[in-house]
Amino acid sequence: LTTNSSTAAGKHEPLRLPAAYDPVRPELIRVAEMIAAQVKHDDEPVGPVMRHITTSRGSMIRPALVLLSGKCFGQLSVSHVRIGAIVEMIHSASLLHDDVLDQAQLRRGRTTTNGLWGNDCAVLAGDCLLARAFSISGELQSVQISRTLADATQSMCRGELRQNLLRGHWDINEETYGKILEDKTGRFFKACCILGGIASRVGSSTLQNLGGFGLNVGMAFQHTDDLLDIIGDEATSGKEQNSDLANRKTTLAFIRLLAGLDARRKAAMLKKLGTRGQSAAALRPSLTQAGALKYVFDVAAAHVERAVKCLRPLSDSHAKAALLEIARSITARIDPGRLE
Ligand code: FPP
Ligand code: MG
Repeated sequence: LTTNSSTAAGKHEPLRLPAAYDPVRPELIRVAEMIAAQVKHDDEPVGPVMRHITTSRGSMIRPALVLLSGKCFGQLSVSHVRIGAIVEMIHSASLLHDDVLDQAQLRRGRTTTNGLWGNDCAVLAGDCLLARAFSISGELQSVQISRTLADATQSMCRGELRQNLLRGHWDINEETYGKILEDKTGRFFKACCILGGIASRVGSSTLQNLGGFGLNVGMAFQHTDDLLDIIGDEATSGKEQNSDLANRKTTLAFIRLLAGLDARRKAAMLKKLGTRGQSAAALRPSLTQAGALKYVFDVAAAHVERAVKCLRPLSDSHAKAALLEIARSITARIDPGRLE
């Protein structure tokens, strides 16, 4: 269920926010305005590149997590909004680089920056956005906030580096893959929730609860994203399908499939996985038969349940209910009928 807001739109795509974000809708609009303001005065030839990035709307889940985590403890301040803008800008910067690494041509239903201006410009635009994000972070004058943002960004880069170093290594185990996801996605989600709490000046045990929630939501989110790369469709995701396999990146479904095969079948499957142009669609029957897709779904669902438990100690509020709804909506993106 989505509702529309054109307040921050201008030349931007309309801000479509899920109903779960309602408790922080005005602040999310201010986040979008703050990001737009960052690139408003960029002149030719840089302006169009930067505005191509900031006018294409993502899900805004990361700023929503910051704001809702903060809102669990009372009114929001300008610091929450700034942190929301920062995390969305860091996320956008990471996608600019990720799309270069994955040679992606489509993102959020639009041609990627690398597709339009080439890899060099996409990397540099990502660097610009990242530097601007950290400049806003300086305005917050909080070592704790700056360090949390920098550490989470560093984890994201390390996870991405690990995944890239392991391209083509199809027989890594589940634990190694879990570490990649925790670094690449989980820790950033964790930071978003913790930062919302820090800006609301909550104590360390509450920050731990928020962090546990964010980490598990992030893990569920990335497992679901991996699954949708195999069973989703371009029209819904706004991105190319089958990107992981095409880029020789394994995900949990393939790890699970290989783990259940005898030596002969495993060797044959490794050969298939290593074949350029191999489509995930062609491997769907094997994945389904092995229960590998259902397995990934169950792992994601278990993370959602863990996330939900982490919020138990928090007092009930609209914001808490919204966080729980966001957590549950992650696996709801998957049609169970497509898993078997
Ligand atoms: C999406 O992965 C990408 C990430 C979660 C992190 C990407 C991080 C980097 C490229 C490091 C550079 C970071 C910064 C801040 C400049 P995916 O390919 O699985 O998801 P997708 O399907 O959305 O492409
Ligand atoms: Mg990618």
